[in-house]
Amino acid sequence: MAAYSKSHALMRRGADFLGSEHAILCGAMSWVSERNLVSAISNAGGFGVIACGAMNPELLDKEIAATKALTDRPFGVNLITMHPQLTDLIAVCARHDVTHVVLAGGIPPKGSVEAIKAFGGKVIVFAPTLALAKKLLRSGGDALVIEGMEAGGHIGPVSTSVLAQEFLPALAEDHLVFVAGGIGRGEAIAGYLEMGAVGVQLGTRFACATESIAHPAFKKAFFRASARDAVASVQVDARLPVIPVRALRNKGTEVFTAKQREVAGMLDGEALEMAEAQLQIEHYWAGALRRAVIDGDVENGSLMAGQSVGMVTQEEPVQAIMDGLMAQCEAALQRR
Ligand SMILES: Cc1cc2nc3c(=O)[nH]c(=O)nc-3n(C[C@H](O)[C@H](O)[C@H](O)COP(=O)(O)O)c2cc1C
Repeated sequence: MAAYSKSHALMRRGADFLGSEHAILCGAMSWVSERNLVSAISNAGGFGVIACGAMNPELLDKEIAATKALTDRPFGVNLITMHPQLTDLIAVCARHDVTHVVLAGGIPPKGSVEAIKAFGGKVIVFAPTLALAKKLLRSGGDALVIEGMEAGGHIGPVSTSVLAQEFLPALAEDHLVFVAGGIGRGEAIAGYLEMGAVGVQLGTRFACATESIAHPAFKKAFFRASARDAVASVQVDARLPVIPVRALRNKGTEVFTAKQREVAGMLDGEALEMAEAQLQIEHYWAGALRRAVIDGDVENGSLMAGQSVGMVTQEEPVQAIMDGLMAQCEAALQRR
């Protein structure tokens, strides 16, 4: 512990909240963040989070039980707010006494935060604007993640460095704020901790760890890629408010553009309602990510990755990645 004394001093509130040694979350990644990676992260002193975007209640039930069999340390569950079975998924978390639930993908629907608090779960929320962050923290959110557009997966329009400057001075004193998006090394963690963050969340950096079940071809694509290969999807039709996704450029990127045109065309012909159109787009992403992560189809599948992908050059055990990040963070703080 003494090895990371300065880092741990700045991470203390975050680590106390998570119940972990280091205040480093591995953000939920659909298909990737399952029992193996999640338990490895928590066992390495971080905080793993199960991705449940593509799961139904039965699968989540099994995944939580299996994760508990692999670690006795705390971990969380990430629920997508627009999931049609959100209430049932929360009930599964309640049955397992899940300590932390991350609500991602939009404003939590009425009653969801209360339902989590009712069984004693802590609620972690995302907010794209300061006003919404304040509102969510007032109405039951226990901690906040701010995530910049450098991140892999679904992204907002603002960079991590700007979000950090906007949110941390306003919130850091009274609230627990974790910073995510584009973090690949410990020096960056040190910087955000000094600005008032109580911890950080990384995804891309952990996606290809030895313990990750991602297909070898998916991992190879990450090792070869540089920051400029991780591009945000483009919106082809102003009426179809598609949330941009950052992924490695491939044939699948073009297929997505065509998919948007197809869905927009159905909107034109009034064959589709807007909500259904958006749901179709989200189903497309879940399927495309599975193709790349599980089947290894790196041409047509979605290789969701953040700009820090250039710093992912080889397969390493989670413990080595975690130790490296902590050592870099500590060295940076000691140099100050
Ligand atoms: C392959 C991949 C899949 C992801 N899937 C999800 C998801 O299902 N739910 C979610 O809230 N975030 C998801 N994310 C975002 C991560 O949880 C995390 O916030 C992000 O990766 C942090 O930024 P970084 O990639 O720059 O480290 C995903 C990210 C990646 C790279």
